[in-house]
Amino acid sequence: MQFELTEEHLAVQQAARDFAQTELLPGVIERDEHQKFPAEQVKKLGELGFMGMMVDPKYGGSGMDTISYVLAMEEISKIDASCSVVMSVNNSLVCWGLETFGNEEQKQKYLVPLAKGEIIGAFLLSEPEAGSDATSQHTTAEDKGDHYLLNGTKNWITNGNSASVYLVMAQTDAAKGHKGINALIVEKNSPGVTVGKKEDKLGIRGSDTHSIMFQDVKVTKENRIGEDGFGFKFAMKTLTGGRIGIAAQALGIASGAYELSLKYSKERKAFGTEIMNHQAIAFKLADMATEIEAARLLCFKAAWLKDQNLDYSRASSIAKLFASETAMKTAVEAVQILGGYGYVKEYHVERLMRDAKITQIYEGTSEIQRVVISRDVLKD
Ligand code: CAA
Repeated sequence: MQFELTEEHLAVQQAARDFAQTELLPGVIERDEHQKFPAEQVKKLGELGFMGMMVDPKYGGSGMDTISYVLAMEEISKIDASCSVVMSVNNSLVCWGLETFGNEEQKQKYLVPLAKGEIIGAFLLSEPEAGSDATSQHTTAEDKGDHYLLNGTKNWITNGNSASVYLVMAQTDAAKGHKGINALIVEKNSPGVTVGKKEDKLGIRGSDTHSIMFQDVKVTKENRIGEDGFGFKFAMKTLTGGRIGIAAQALGIASGAYELSLKYSKERKAFGTEIMNHQAIAFKLADMATEIEAARLLCFKAAWLKDQNLDYSRASSIAKLFASETAMKTAVEAVQILGGYGYVKEYHVERLMRDAKITQIYEGTSEIQRVVISRDVLKD
């Protein structure tokens, strides 16, 4: 068993760390406050090769492994989780989904610009009444011979307005249940597509989350991903990988909160000594470090299994469950350590605490991860 990162891994980690410090840190508080999408920063991430990290270079990607993706996600998320969710959705859900299940024409037309970061993609599964219960799709894709007619509303769509390409799950044959769902590539500027209002969120406020409405949107059959009825499995398989990205995001939020806590504990004095010398604080730091290390190893394990083409479904849910719980717990403790300073924006940890919460909700709530894990462990 090898626990050391390769030189390539360390270089990716350093590049992401430098990028986060120089490009993301300076405006992160302002973007959070004004809900400003990090457009310039995402463009630069594309130039660095971070928007299609795992995509084959022949399709415009960087051809890196999933461990590199975890490392980059952690570093970016330490500083700006709003930016890292844009990166995660594009990499894990959109690029990976298209590269793995799209046909050559779809890859040339959509994957290449997405992987290069020239355009951004979004993944449209959730609906007003289909979040955790993802089989209950109300959006319909009526089969009209050479095309589908798309009608319905999607909710909570990350990159909803900034994306040019949507991967949309919709029901074609309700009688077939989840086997009647299709995954369609829809261009945002198609007639009948409307971007709804931007959600005013607790955290990840720099990312743009919208509802998207479809009214008689004509989608050519060439834009269906996979066979007829493959849409639900497409969504599940894609989300399985996506959960590694969100686990790494949660890991980054936790390690960002921890690093700020450690730094503050070494500087701030109370009762005649730096507060790190008080066991009440030192034990918190020890717990944070322990849980973060465990979360990091779980992320690496899921990423490694994926890179070896082994089953990573249980591992990705375990990583996401543990890392997101760790993010929430660590960020709350960081606010406690910083006290009054922790409660104001200037010191960053209150934002990390708000950002942490979403990692327990999106790409499957903690409860959904427990469903996936428990179903799997019961097979043991
Ligand atoms: N890989 C491949 N196939 C899978 C799968 C997986 N991980 N999980 C399920 N399937 C298959 C099953 O094998 C089954 O196929 P068959 O009928 O052929 O046997 C089919 O899918 C249906 O599976 P289930 O019976 O298990 O379905 P279910 O209704 O019980 O639901 C669930 C399963 C795990 C709860 C699922 O609905 C789920 O994951 N829900 C959460 C959805 C989610 O994560 N939403 C996030 C939205 S996207 C987002 O947040 C992105 C963003 O913007 C940041």
